Amino acid sequence: MNPMKAVLDYLKANRIRNVDELCEYLRFPSVSAQSKHAPDMKACGEWLVRHCQRIGLRADLVTTQGHPLVLATTRNPKSAAKNRKHFVVYGHYDVQPAEPFELWTTPPFEPRLEGSRLFARGASDNKGQNFAHLKAVEAYVKTGTPLPCDLTFVIEGEEEVGSKSLPAFLKARKKELACDAFVVSDTGMPAKGVPALTYGLRGIAAFEVTLHGPSRDLHSGVFGGSIENPAMALCKLIAQLRDGQGRINIPGFYDDVTPLTAYERKQMARLPFKEASYRKMLGVPKLFGERGYTFTEQRSARPTLEINGLTSGYQGEGSKTIVPAWARAKLTIRLAPDQNPKRVMQLVLKHLKRLCPPTVRLEITAGHGAEPYVVSPEGTQAQAALRALRAAFGKEPVLLREGGSIPIVNEFKRILGVDTLLLGLGLPDDNVHSPNEKFELDCFEKGQRMSALLWQELSAA
Ligand code: BES
Ligand code: ZN
Repeated sequence: MNPMKAVLDYLKANRIRNVDELCEYLRFPSVSAQSKHAPDMKACGEWLVRHCQRIGLRADLVTTQGHPLVLATTRNPKSAAKNRKHFVVYGHYDVQPAEPFELWTTPPFEPRLEGSRLFARGASDNKGQNFAHLKAVEAYVKTGTPLPCDLTFVIEGEEEVGSKSLPAFLKARKKELACDAFVVSDTGMPAKGVPALTYGLRGIAAFEVTLHGPSRDLHSGVFGGSIENPAMALCKLIAQLRDGQGRINIPGFYDDVTPLTAYERKQMARLPFKEASYRKMLGVPKLFGERGYTFTEQRSARPTLEINGLTSGYQGEGSKTIVPAWARAKLTIRLAPDQNPKRVMQLVLKHLKRLCPPTVRLEITAGHGAEPYVVSPEGTQAQAALRALRAAFGKEPVLLREGGSIPIVNEFKRILGVDTLLLGLGLPDDNVHSPNEKFELDCFEKGQRMSALLWQELSAA
């Protein structure tokens, strides 16, 4: 009998239990950005360790400078066979803040199943996607089907805040993590039932700009007109950073951007995205973007500069007539290959200093940064992954470049010399980082199947 039949049958037979377990996982408000959730982070990590142990893995919660990470493996360190292939599955149990809560139909940490959609913060990004891999391993272990390779899981708690502790961990555990490839399901597919291999991600450079005006909020009637308003100055300053088409106005900014090849542009044009439905899904009256590029290109392979947050003055009920003491913006730039976050930040700093009027004091704090990532989809491992995707979904996979960032994949390459296979299970309308995040059970189930088949394909490749 085909040993894979037992594994796939097990996944089918345990469909409902797998969803229940994912719900249990989703109940932890593991928001890495908010310090009040530090105890929830730890509790979530501990739950995950116990879960890994229950499905037959050796698992530990590893403390770091920040939030702990989960390390789990199918390997028995004593009897680890040298000539077996080894793959590391990376994922994250931390989630983005769920605010604004009032926009959620039901509370973000009380998972709700509606038809074939599971709603909760982290359902798609990344608990659900990563959990599919754990369920696949469980199926091998519980059916006594020998895995053709060794597998290790690294599930961190700081992805959404820039993976600060992970490089040190990778360096410290270089031997244990030496592997043939990293496998990550933390990206997307273009539509339900259309599997994808992502071969490129944008990089990121995060920073905050604060303009300081008077030493305290002042009466705008008494003093307004004689001093600069920092909120006004900040709006003007930031507005100058890009033109009306979204092209970034920072000298030298595009110097290192590698143009898309004609082949890539042709592939991107084939993706099943329609402008009208895209616009409707996002609720915008009209699309916006750099001239000369399709919206698929704009959002996945071209750089962009965004305000992520903007704060100044009085935000409470009613009005308050003041000139605020300060104004602050949180910004991120998404980088295209081969831009470098450090170099780009230098350009930004220089430019902002030049633009800032002498009537306010400029303060810039650089945040996390990551390089863009691109890997050839033509290698033997990518081809093996495509076979697993094809078999699990029963449909020809597409090749994608995506606009989001997974900073750590660059470190996998730099520190361990290993490439990453990005096999996303999310959908464009999953509302990741937005209210009412959801994950489709179809993606969850086919993802489990894909993972089960992947180890066969990769081990034989
Ligand atoms: N899963 C996303 C990254 C992603 C989403 C890639 C969709 C491709 C398609 C990940 O959890 C994420 O949100 N990363 C952050 C990284 C940042 C905080 C350094 C991002 O892209 O904003
Ligand atoms: Zn995310």
